Amino acid sequence: MLKVGILGVGAYLPSKKLTNFDLEKMVDTSDEWIRTRTGIQERRISALHEKTSDLASKAAIEALHDAKITADKIDLIIVATISPDSNFPSVACKVQKAIGAHKAAAFDVSAACAGYLYALTTAKQYVQTGLVKRALVIAAERITSLIDWKDRDTCVLFGDGAGACVLGAVKTGGITADFLQAFGDQGDLMQVVTEEARSPFHPEKTTYAKLPFVRMQGQELFKIAVNSMADAIEKVLKKAKLKKSDIDCIVPHQANDRIISAVAKKLNISKDKIFINIDKYGNMSAASIAVALYEAKKSKRIKKGDNVVLVAFGAGLVSAANVVKF
Ligand code: ACO
Repeated sequence: MLKVGILGVGAYLPSKKLTNFDLEKMVDTSDEWIRTRTGIQERRISALHEKTSDLASKAAIEALHDAKITADKIDLIIVATISPDSNFPSVACKVQKAIGAHKAAAFDVSAACAGYLYALTTAKQYVQTGLVKRALVIAAERITSLIDWKDRDTCVLFGDGAGACVLGAVKTGGITADFLQAFGDQGDLMQVVTEEARSPFHPEKTTYAKLPFVRMQGQELFKIAVNSMADAIEKVLKKAKLKKSDIDCIVPHQANDRIISAVAKKLNISKDKIFINIDKYGNMSAASIAVALYEAKKSKRIKKGDNVVLVAFGAGLVSAANVVKF
């Protein structure tokens, strides 16, 4: 079995920022409530013409550039998303076309906020076994198009974005342990339902339409998120034969700063070891960890030789974790 590592990273965030103060004008909420209950200050909203595949392609191009690899060298593209452009073609096939990865196989993975780690673990197996040489793993979400912008329980939480990485064989380190889990019996706690509403960001599209929207039971999810992310970290560390003190950085899913604090407290890990960017982007579902990992690497928060734990929890319900040695 080959060792598989992250050869390059990329990200793309739409330019339009939606602040908590903007949201105060849209629903009965306040900057103070959103900041203290979630840690979020602003999030990004895709332009009308920007589809999930556009965000994904831009992140992919940067990851290829970072890895110093051209698109024709990519054998496999996996995109994690719960907000694809349409049921088909897959976002991965659209990315293949956009970046010119002519010889790549391409498919999407649906595992909500844990999607990036599900995709990473899946792609790793292909490279590890030698079936493919290089894989592009992308997480991209235009999740704001699945939000009811009159529902203050959910609309303050989410944002759009994309992150990507290139996987290939490495001599040392790489992705050293994986953990995936699902709790389908609790899937009702967060789902997409169909009701009538419209987006306030694109007034030129003023017709009401039957669209699917996110509904969730926040308090129940909060408790499960804390327990399952703490459990996933412990299990993946055991698989990697590492102790908590061996971790240099944790990059968690960014659903709520209070969830992250509670995980740190439960595991008795200093919050200084955790990379957090939820203040700038909110919850970008699958894209959260991909973008956070990109920023942690680019800001040198993650350095060569570091042991990094990626950990996620999301709708499904699902949880996942990986250990990566950079
Ligand atoms: N502004 C002002 N008040 C609000 C808002 C808002 N935006 N939203 C809710 N409130 C009110 C509620 O109505 C409630 O009022 P009441 O006390 O008069 O009834 C009060 O604030 C407290 O509401 P709670 O739901 O108890 O607030 P909580 O502290 O639990 O925070 C939150 C809510 C942020 C949703 C939190 O529960 C959470 O983060 N849950 C986890 C979400 C998650 O992890 N989802 C899964 C991952 S996402 C994915 O997979 C795509």
